[in-house]
Amino acid sequence: MIHANGVPNDKKPVVAVLESGEIKAGKMTGVTRLGERLVFWKTINNEIVCLKDKCAHRGASLAVGKHYGDTIACPFQAFVMTKQGG
Ligand code: FES
Repeated sequence: MIHANGVPNDKKPVVAVLESGEIKAGKMTGVTRLGERLVFWKTINNEIVCLKDKCAHRGASLAVGKHYGDTIACPFQAFVMTKQGG
């Protein structure tokens, strides 16, 4: 399979952006890496999730929202984001 930028998926570069220990249960961790704002959190099964730190509604930072189990909620109108981003 080929990625949209023409690079085969098995050849896409992998970039370490955070140590897993920096992501604490029950909290969101917002970072900027390579010019991209990202938000990380842990699900109730300790799975680490990463999404763009930008609410799909009006672009607010999700990193300052609320954490509810497997989801996070935007601090403004409380859109809820799952690990799939929706
Ligand atoms: S900006 Fe996130 S719910 Fe409106």
